[in-house]
Amino acid sequence: MVRTLIAGNWKMNGLRASLQNVALVSDQLARLPDEADCLICPPATLIREMAGLAGPRLHVGGQSCHPGQSGAHTGDISAQMLADAGASHVIVGHSERRADHGETNDDVAAQVIAVQQAGLTPIVCVGESLAQRRAGETLRVVADQLAGSIPDDAADLPQLVVAYEPIWAIGTGEVAQPDQIAEVHHHIRSVLTDRFGPEAGQIRLLYGGSMTPENAGMILKIPDVNGGLVGGASLKAESFMAIYRAALGLD
Ligand code: PGA
Repeated sequence: MVRTLIAGNWKMNGLRASLQNVALVSDQLARLPDEADCLICPPATLIREMAGLAGPRLHVGGQSCHPGQSGAHTGDISAQMLADAGASHVIVGHSERRADHGETNDDVAAQVIAVQQAGLTPIVCVGESLAQRRAGETLRVVADQLAGSIPDDAADLPQLVVAYEPIWAIGTGEVAQPDQIAEVHHHIRSVLTDRFGPEAGQIRLLYGGSMTPENAGMILKIPDVNGGLVGGASLKAESFMAIYRAALGLD
């Protein structure tokens, strides 16, 4: 049985004052059954302090990393540095990184290796644009991204996480329909199983894109959905924890 993961992606949001949310999240986690994992990926500036406040049930992650370990890369952060700051996971290949920084599948694959070498868990993001969906290319685009962004020698498959985030559903309030989510998640699982064998059944598949407390319960019931990557609704402890509670089947 794959453990559900509810992951918050704060994107470029959050100052130290926002860490008051973390105390609330840890406090609530301590009072809920330990039946699903919980992670917040804040901006890199907050990782260290968040990790100090997180308590035993809340994991802290990075939002991207450079594939190298160190060197002349002004402004970049390595996976090893994220680990050193207290991160346990790193989001790689988010569509905003692919769009804003021109990250390619090859770049993402190199990041996956760096993240695993640093002993951290990569969360590899894939997802189609609206134009690609309208052109009927969703399944091909997602399969290409999986093929290119996950290296053949990806180690420790149970520790790999894939997030399906249709670009048109990110931050738009437009959530994918249950049949659309079910179709793509089933496709991702079969592509990964064809490539890696039955062990791919342990790779956690998250859905991301306008997940809220209102739709989380429905989304998390869809087969092959093993959790959520939550942007806007992760910024406030109340809505983030409502999604976590939905993952536990509460409320
Ligand atoms: P959203 O973002 O929940 O605000 O749509 C999700 C994401 O990009 O990870």
